[in-house]
Amino acid sequence: MSLIRSHIVGTGYSLPAKVLTNDDLSKMVETSDEWISTRTGIRSRHIASEGEYTSDFCVKAAQMALKNAGMKIEEIDFIIVATVTPDNTFPATAAKVGKILGIRPGVAAMDVNAACSGFIYASQIADNMIRLGQIKTALVIGAETLSRIVDWTDRNTCVLFGDGAGAAVLKASEEQGNNTDRGILSVKIFADASHYETLCSDSGVSFNQKSGFIHMDGKEVFKIAIPSLIEGIESSLELADLTLKDIDWYLPHQANARIIDSVAKKLEIDDSKVIITVDHHGNTSAASIPLALAEAVESGKIKRGDVVVISSMGAGFTWGGMVVRI
Ligand code: UT7
Repeated sequence: MSLIRSHIVGTGYSLPAKVLTNDDLSKMVETSDEWISTRTGIRSRHIASEGEYTSDFCVKAAQMALKNAGMKIEEIDFIIVATVTPDNTFPATAAKVGKILGIRPGVAAMDVNAACSGFIYASQIADNMIRLGQIKTALVIGAETLSRIVDWTDRNTCVLFGDGAGAAVLKASEEQGNNTDRGILSVKIFADASHYETLCSDSGVSFNQKSGFIHMDGKEVFKIAIPSLIEGIESSLELADLTLKDIDWYLPHQANARIIDSVAKKLEIDDSKVIITVDHHGNTSAASIPLALAEAVESGKIKRGDVVVISSMGAGFTWGGMVVRI
């Protein structure tokens, strides 16, 4: 029985030009390249300059994804941006990006806030709409300017985060309806709000009319991140009717190289199959997965036909997994 699947037909990314190294940070707070790189695997991150907004990175990432897909913005039926750092409280950053790109009037535009799991959540929404036949194409973007909500005097958090955006163009394609299909084969999303305050902004519009700073109980997040990332992998593979033996790549949310290593070791995924960008992006929350995907496609690592299992975990807590045959 044939089935409509969402093919990822183009990916793109955008990073601010400004790079902040661990040595730069050691001049701002009491830290060192040695501490940051051994505890997190991060060596540098990109930081937005004054006057650069989340929407700017979305637009550039989307343009690259459209170009790589060989498509025009007029062909896009839905635009969704995953972010916790929107340009404005409202309207959605997706609306602003659509306006700048010249999207057709009438095309639905929305943001989703699921923190580091945002790209998987957004893909779930777009994929479901495509599979239901409501739309034929979608522009799915993950983007952040986390530097705007980082307390640059707090060494516990300021060394961890970075800015940027990644984008993917999804397109409906008729497939056979089995695990040899191309496209998004499964998506699973989860949340457990009992951890609402373990990783959060200390402010909010309704709460105190501010955007606030990132606060995190790093040790607690670390502990829960590992089983959550594993659940994302295992549940999405099960739904796709595939196993770890079938995967070419594991693409995790990029928060900490030690977390990623631990997940890979527990599941016996060979290091050569793990996509790592945390060393030069830091943690870019909702942007981290589409950024890593677009970079890996651009560098020729991830090729057409490869099976990629993706998993994420972040504030909420939210977590999830996704299996794609590119
Ligand atoms: O994106 C959502 C998911 N987020 C994550 O997955 C993040 C999860 N958590 C982590 O990655 C780690 O917990 C951190 C990297 C945030 C922290 O690593 P840790 O090994 O858990 O360190 P710690 O918080 O236990 O701190 C150890 C020591 C402390 O000093 P004392 O109390 O032992 O004297 C900290 O004050 O390291 C100190 N410290 C630092 N030292 C130098 C904390 N931050 C720094 C720093 N430079 N930047």
